[in-house]
Formats: sequence, C-alpha cells, structure tokens
Amino acid sequence: MKVKKAIIPAAGLGTRVLPASKSVPKEMLNIVDKPAIQYLVEEAVAAGIEDILVITNRGKGVIEDHFDHSYELEKNLEGKKSKEQALESIRRIADLANVYFIRQKETKGLGHAILCGKSFVGNEPFAVLYGDDIIISEDPVTSQLCRVYEEYGCGTVGVKECSREAVKKYCTLDVSPLRDNVMRVHNIIEKPTDEQIISLYAILGRVVLPPEVFGLLEEGIKNVPAGEEFFLTDALAQLGKEGKLTAVDFIGKRYDMGNKLGIMMANCEVALKHPEIGEDFKAYLKELVATL
Ligand code: UTP
Repeated sequence: MKVKKAIIPAAGLGTRVLPASKSVPKEMLNIVDKPAIQYLVEEAVAAGIEDILVITNRGKGVIEDHFDHSYELEKNLEGKKSKEQALESIRRIADLANVYFIRQKETKGLGHAILCGKSFVGNEPFAVLYGDDIIISEDPVTSQLCRVYEEYGCGTVGVKECSREAVKKYCTLDVSPLRDNVMRVHNIIEKPTDEQIISLYAILGRVVLPPEVFGLLEEGIKNVPAGEEFFLTDALAQLGKEGKLTAVDFIGKRYDMGNKLGIMMANCEVALKHPEIGEDFKAYLKELVATL
C-alpha cells in the first residue's frame, strides 16, 4: 500500500536550544532562509505524501501561519520586479501539501505525540519525520523508507551508525542483513548503557509504520509511570520482536536541529551550497578559517 500520510511531531519543549526556543518553536529556527520544518514538509511532498499532520502545542501557532497564505505580505510584494522571487517563494509554501495541525496537550514524549495522530492516520501506513531532524539527500530519505515499506510490507526505520556516546543518547538496534542497505530488526533498546549496546545503529529521524502500531502504543502507554516520558521505541521494539520491522541505512546527511552545534552545522553546509550566497559565504569562511 502506498504511503500517503505523514506525521511531524513538533511538540517538544526544545530545552537544549534555549533561549532561542523560548518563544520561537525550535522547528521554526532557520537553516539559511527557511525554517527547519519547511525542509521536512518539502521532503514528505517529494516522497509523494499529500497529507501531513503536524503535532504542535501551546505557543507554536507560528508554524500554522507559516503554511498559510500571508495576504498582506503577498499584496505588498506584488508587482515589484525585484521581489518576484520572494513572492513566489512564500506563495508556494501555502500550496505545498494539505497540512493539518493537532495539539499534544501535555508533553509526554514521542510515543504519546504519535498517538495524537491516530484518527488522522486511520487504517493507512504513515511516515514520521521527527521535527528536529533535517536530512539532506538527493533521494529524499522518506522516499527511501517508503520504497522499503512497500517492498517488505512492514514497518521500517531510518538508521545510521553512530558513535557509542550518541548511541547511548538515542538507541541501539539488534539487526541482521537482508540486502545492501536494508536489515531486519529484531530488537531495539532505548538509551542503552554501555553493556546493553548491541550495535552502533541508531534510529535517526525517520520511520514508516503500519497503522497497527497504534494498538501497541495504546497498550504501552498504560504501563508508563505518571510523569515519565513515553517513547516510540517500545512499540517499534515490539514490531521487531514479531519480525515486522526493517531498517534502512539511509543515504543522506543528517543535522540535529535539537542542539546548538547541529543548527550551526546545518546552516554552514546549506549556506555553502546556496545559489544566492554560496560563493560569498565560501570566500568569507576561507578568510575566517585562515585566522583560526
Ligand atoms: P526531542 O526529545 O528531541 O525533543 O524529541 P524535545 O523534547 O523538544 O528536546 P529537548 O527538550 O531539547 O531535550 C524529538 C521530536 O519529537 C517531538 C519534538 O518536538 C521533536 O521534534 N516531541 C517530543 C513531541 O512532539 N512531543 C513530545 O512530547 C516530545
């Protein structure tokens, strides 16, 4: 079955990028000239996804505004020769896809955020693009995963080998090879200790799941002690144990917009390739590096 829907969870508190994220959602922090979340919506659209649900919370209304028309601004730019490109760039955002919004009323973790999308998803497979993981690739990572989902008919997660330190912050996967960059997942452990690390593969920012995962999430959330975060990983691990999960060692460069260094790296690398400022930025960077 073709994947036509996506969820972008963007209801986290963004505490690692404070104070920037105090009143601007971290998903709205820019990479050169576009907010991070626009890269995600564009990636989903490039993968053939038509309906996108963004999970937000209080104070994230600017995300909705970004994907709507801004008539006053558009009227102001209309007819100005030098602003034609800017006008086109803001008009197309509103027409990118059907973007829906729902609020996660309490910040109870990624598993809980995804559960908020249950009625939007219905009985279809869906992609999840984590709101702070930007992955730049010629072949959109969501497309890479959707193809594997369609090929094997079961859930799939985007993975990369990471350092041990990173794995301890994310998760570790027990995998066996299927073909080239596709693996079968047998188990996943969230935030493993040194002794628990099975492999250096960790899930980074993209998954494609069958609707059955909502049953697992509804069961799982019952066992979460009050005040604790509900991870998506437990439901994914369950799919793995049942032989219903694959992993794709995706092609693409990932930037963690949830931390300060990641934001700077994304800006630097995207700026270097930017058609308008790329050459000037490269010259500036060379000059700067020479002084270090
Ligand atoms: P993170 O754990 O990286 O987001 O979640 P966070 O809570 O904002 O991070 P801190 O506070 O800096 O540690 C990964 C993705 O899941 C979303 C986040 O918005 C982010 O895009 N998320 C997380 C939710 O939508 N709801 C939650 O309850 C938690």
